[in-house]
Amino acid sequence: MHRLQDKVAVITGAGSGIGRAAAQLMSAQGASVVVADYDTQAAQETARLITTAGGNALPLTVNVLEEDSITAMIDATVEEYGALHVLCNHVGGTDPRTDLDLLRMDMDEFDRAVTLNMRSTLLGSRHAIPHMIRAGGGSIINTASVAALVGDVLQTAYGAVKAAVVSITKSTATQYGPKNIRCNTIAPGAVMTPALENNLPQEVIESLRAGNALPYLGSPEDIAHTMVFLASDESRYLTGQLLVVDGGMTMQSSAAPGRRAMLPA
Ligand SMILES: NC(=O)c1ccc[n+]([C@@H]2O[C@H](COP(=O)([O-])OP(=O)(O)OC[C@H]3O[C@@H](n4cnc5c(N)ncnc54)[C@H](O)[C@@H]3O)[C@@H](O)[C@H]2O)c1
Repeated sequence: MHRLQDKVAVITGAGSGIGRAAAQLMSAQGASVVVADYDTQAAQETARLITTAGGNALPLTVNVLEEDSITAMIDATVEEYGALHVLCNHVGGTDPRTDLDLLRMDMDEFDRAVTLNMRSTLLGSRHAIPHMIRAGGGSIINTASVAALVGDVLQTAYGAVKAAVVSITKSTATQYGPKNIRCNTIAPGAVMTPALENNLPQEVIESLRAGNALPYLGSPEDIAHTMVFLASDESRYLTGQLLVVDGGMTMQSSAAPGRRAMLPA
């Protein structure tokens, strides 16, 4: 028996990176997957990978910055598959070139960060929840980041809006728990996706690896496996929680990597 047999899952940002991996893994566990992305070709490619492997996928061109597009995504899902059980509000991020420190931050980028990360998460859930209630319950998975937990020298808006995603998750879990709807946040650490590889210099990527307790950076599948768990009934008693999947980046003392050298050989 597959872990997501007969479930219908919507994943935003499923054209690339973690979202694509989650779409593939959820399909492999029996879910019908709506692959939502504003990059039409990328969405179609994820859907092609899924159908080639024998799964069911519906690619949709969706811009989560626009509420009408989110509504159309949910409506198309229910029209195609008749129900909705899992929603991954996965799209997010900011531009580190304009999301800077407090004094130099571009406030247009701040407003865009709110719309892309926070408003889209709230709206996705708002339009999905009535269908989940009709289906007898559901699981919402919101993507935050370790940036929600620690201070940083730049990407001030990113940390703030991802912290807001954690808060929205708890309100969603509290308000709709009685309707058997669970809502959890996943906070990835550094994961080798196009978003990271294209935005960060190599020396920064190396310093991220050195800051992990584990000796490697995450892969999209490392996060996607946790998303499958949160989508499945195996996590039926887990709601409102923040799962930090970061290779030990945020749990260890910042002094720990340097102090390793103090250990006897
Ligand atoms: N990669 C990491 O290291 C990392 C770490 C922490 C958190 N995250 C979070 O994971 C999520 C996605 O990251 P990823 O690494 O999978 O990124 P990615 O760049 O690989 O994929 C993002 C996808 O989202 C799509 N997209 C962007 N804007 C969109 C919009 N307005 N509407 C619809 N689709 C849109 C892109 O076309 C792309 O296919 C984000 O919420 C990000 O903050 C990533």
